[in-house]
Order: sequence, then C-alpha cells, then structure tokens
Amino acid sequence: MFFKRKTDEIDKTRLPVHIGIIMDGNGRWAKKRGLPRSAGHKAGAESLKKIITEANNLGIKYATVYAFSTENWKRPKAEVDYLMSLLMDYLVNAEKTLAGENVVIRAIGSRKELSEEMRRQIVKTEEFTKNNTGIVMNIALNYGGRDEIVHAVREICREAAAEGKSADDITAGDIESRLYTAGQPDVDLLIRTSGEQRLSNFMLWQVSYAEMWFTDKLWPDFKPADLHRAIADFQHRGRRFGGV
Ligand code: IPE
Ligand code: IPE
Ligand code: MG
Repeated sequence: MFFKRKTDEIDKTRLPVHIGIIMDGNGRWAKKRGLPRSAGHKAGAESLKKIITEANNLGIKYATVYAFSTENWKRPKAEVDYLMSLLMDYLVNAEKTLAGENVVIRAIGSRKELSEEMRRQIVKTEEFTKNNTGIVMNIALNYGGRDEIVHAVREICREAAAEGKSADDITAGDIESRLYTAGQPDVDLLIRTSGEQRLSNFMLWQVSYAEMWFTDKLWPDFKPADLHRAIADFQHRGRRFGGV
C-alpha cells in the first residue's frame, strides 16, 4: 500500500545542519508580471528574509545563500548596480532585523572586486552579529566555487613554499581549512528554485555529498512551507556517503 506522506512534517531531531540555497528565478518572476527584473530581485530579497527567519526558528545551524556569482558581472551594469544596492540594504537592515533574531551574518566570496563601501559594510555587519548564537547565514556575494578553490590553493602554495613543505604533505583538510567556509560543516541539503538543475559554480567542494532538491517555483514565490517540504524530503532519503 502506498501512502502519500504528509510533506510538511519535519523531525526536528534530524535536521540538515547546513543548507545551501541557489535563489534563482527572480527575473522570470518579474517578467511574468510585466515588471522590470529589479522588481523580481526586490521580491527575492523579501523572500530571503522570511526563509532565513524560518530556518532559524526550525533550528538549522547554517544556511549559505547564493546572492551574486562571480559570473553575474556579465549582466547589464544597471542590473548589477541594482543587485549591489539591494545587497547593501540587506546588510544594513540585517543589523536591525535579522540580528535581532540572533542570526550570525557572514559574506563569502572575493571582496576585492566589491566597492569600498560594500566591503566596509560587510565587516560592520559581520562584527555586529558575530556573537549571536542562532543560524549562521553565509551570503555568497561575488562568490564562485572555482574562485574559492583557486584562492585556497594559492594560500597553500604560499605557505608550503615558506615552510618548505612538500606537495605530498597537502591534504583535503588543508584545502577545506582555507575555503571561505572554513570551520563549517559540508552542505547537507542543496535547494535550487526556478526549475534549473545545475550548480552554476556554487559550493563545488562543500556539496560533494549534499542531497539536491529542485523546485519549479521561482525564488520570490518560495515560501516557508516549501522549505519544510524540502527538509521533509531530505529526511526521507538514504544517505550512504559511499558506504552501504
Ligand atoms: C536569481 O535570479 C538572482 C541572481 C542571480 C542574482 P535571476 O536574476 O537569475 O533570475 P532569472 O534566472 O533570470 O529568472
Ligand atoms: C546562479 O544563478 C547565481 C545566483 C543565484 C546568485 P544564475 O541565474 O546566475 O545561473 P545560470 O546563469 O542560470 O546558470
Ligand atoms: Mg537565473
């Protein structure tokens, strides 16, 4: 007999520790409504606040959200500028709203291409929220998985040269400890909205054994109930990590 399982039932003792979210589909959401893409990004930012609040309330420990990729600079300047201003607002407001909810906010990605103002705000928001004890929210901003690995390898090479270490001494742990997410666990559950089923350079190292969950919903339409569904599905999968 096949019973349809109640999709929103979550076992709070078996939550994914780290969720990754590729928040995709803002542009299509706006287009469907005859609005400019910027309206989709604005709605997407609202969606993000709700989802982080929900994840925090559920007791999820880490959430990494893809906000701007190293490839997104290819977009028209006006869109890039708008996305940057939204992210800036997000960081500023986060001090008032998400920080009050005990969220730890961090930015991951390469900072040198960001404006001076954005870099300063990142440091400020990180500093302001660092002693919070709730969910750690990594905002992937000018983030690329390949860039992150290149960055780690460069550091390893520099240190190895200085210490006279041989190539054979390099371990996976050496790479891991130099990623932007150093010290954090791997991603358990990866969510991507908008029907696309690809990584688009997100967390290449950290998603090695993540369970992938896709939905056709566009990011601004993604609701706390959808997060519940993703987690409930995750809890019904058998993870083996290469074992039996
Ligand atoms: C995701 O939505 C947000 C970013 C990539 C910054 P998109 O802007 O990619 O929306 P679509 O995929 O064009 O619909
Ligand atoms: C991935 O979405 C990046 C973010 C969600 C920030 P894209 O919309 O940039 O990815 P592609 O181009 O469809 O692969
Ligand atoms: Mg997209």
